[in-house]
Amino acid sequence: MNPRTEQNRIIIFDTTLRDGEQSPGATMNLEEKLRVAEMLDAMGVDVIEAGFAIASNGDFEAVREVARLAKNAAVCSLARAGVKDIDRAWEALAHARRPRIHTFIATSPLHMRVKLQMEPDVVLEAIEKSVSHARNLCDDVEWSAEDGTRSEHDFLCRAVETAIKAGATTINIPDTVGYTVPEEYRALFEMLINRVPNIDKAVLSTHCHNDLGLAVANSIAGVLGGARQIECTINGIGERAGNAALEEIVMALRTRADALPYTTGVKTEKLTPASHLVSTVTGLAVQANKAIVGANAFAHESGIHQDGVLKDAQTYEIMTPESVGLKTSSLVMGKHSGRHAFYEKLKELGYDLGPNALQDAFVRFKDLADKKKQIYDEDIVALVDDEVMRGKDRIKFVSLQIVCGSKGPQSAELELEIDGELKSTKATGDGPVDATFKAIRALVEHNAHLQLYQVHAVTGGTDAQAGVTVRLEEDGKTVTGQGADTDTLVASARAYVHALNKLFVKREKSAPASLMA
Ligand code: KIV
Ligand code: ZN
Repeated sequence: MNPRTEQNRIIIFDTTLRDGEQSPGATMNLEEKLRVAEMLDAMGVDVIEAGFAIASNGDFEAVREVARLAKNAAVCSLARAGVKDIDRAWEALAHARRPRIHTFIATSPLHMRVKLQMEPDVVLEAIEKSVSHARNLCDDVEWSAEDGTRSEHDFLCRAVETAIKAGATTINIPDTVGYTVPEEYRALFEMLINRVPNIDKAVLSTHCHNDLGLAVANSIAGVLGGARQIECTINGIGERAGNAALEEIVMALRTRADALPYTTGVKTEKLTPASHLVSTVTGLAVQANKAIVGANAFAHESGIHQDGVLKDAQTYEIMTPESVGLKTSSLVMGKHSGRHAFYEKLKELGYDLGPNALQDAFVRFKDLADKKKQIYDEDIVALVDDEVMRGKDRIKFVSLQIVCGSKGPQSAELELEIDGELKSTKATGDGPVDATFKAIRALVEHNAHLQLYQVHAVTGGTDAQAGVTVRLEEDGKTVTGQGADTDTLVASARAYVHALNKLFVKREKSAPASLMA
């Protein structure tokens, strides 16, 4: 697509896998990144920023595999303004149908003086060299002026002109520290359009951080000022307070097309499943009152609102739940449902499991149906996510018996299968969760610290499954695990074991070792 021929088409550049992954605790493993990338590609985003190839072997591998997987979207790797960074990005993009190199350097006086310790003229030289080098490799080159909103206008104009002259096809002006306000950001793009002589040769792009809660408003103001690409993330995850939320931008443009006559290629019905997936794999819960994808976004509590919505949903709903992919909880199946019905349901929910995972998921479904009369779509999603994530685990949860209650001491009797061998132990603790985690620590040697333990009910009702998230940290590496079960403690054990499996995958890459304590 040539944006200059489609004046009002906004390019959606998703950076969930790069800037989003820079959220504290949001690290994803390769398999999780590929699930997110597949979802983004199917959703219709135009560009997927898959990582920062030189940052680590994990990032390199992620960019390479996302590049192989994406059928529609351009795939992009970030690179600093150096030959090594750019070459590594290009190497990772080798299999992309539509590769893009995204190179950046800071242009604000503060960043140039303190961080880069470079004179402005030297920064201009670096822009010229890095962009030319990238453009010699790749036809699609994005250049970003880091801390662009705190840069001096004269210098920013020279930097942008230099980048375009060297071959940049997209110019991104990040509000790196979330400092700008809508009018100012809009005026910045207007200023660049008025003053940079070759500006018509590139697409202008917004990239807003949310430190003042203005990232989405600023992004839209940037578009009003002439930008035609928006950089954003699912659920708005990202450094510090996050990035502009993709779902909010896309729905603002769709819902207020009268005031904002711009279009995107995003299939909005995929927004809720995408939000759910990103929240599951990162362990970053979505706040209930979050616009578009929060649990309360379409809930009406007050009697007056409920009455109005029953008479005509438009009284209090400016968009339909269906338009963002929110289905009213449908009762799916019970214990008499067969394998075929289960398989059809999985297809409807967007899962395509291999025969082994399908069989395991079916066994878990039957087990759940024995415990829980009403099984909803959310139950199946939680169960299958739990199962899919467990594919190649070295440590497997087998059983857990708990003694708990006000009289104490609380104890946990746990069985795990570790590298194919059954192991069991008993532990006491300050409450059943503590006892369970102590039992796991007794069976599996590790020094990881528990950073987060979070429980939510997958559906309503006292027989609801508990969805548990556990985040562990060891030697600066963080991993997030999830578990689901009608028993909160079993879900907790599964989540802890899942996180440990991920930690060991990370450890294994440096030094394979036995897991047993
Ligand atoms: O916020 C920022 O400045 C960035 C750039 C590297 C694009 O993420
Ligand atoms: Zn950023």
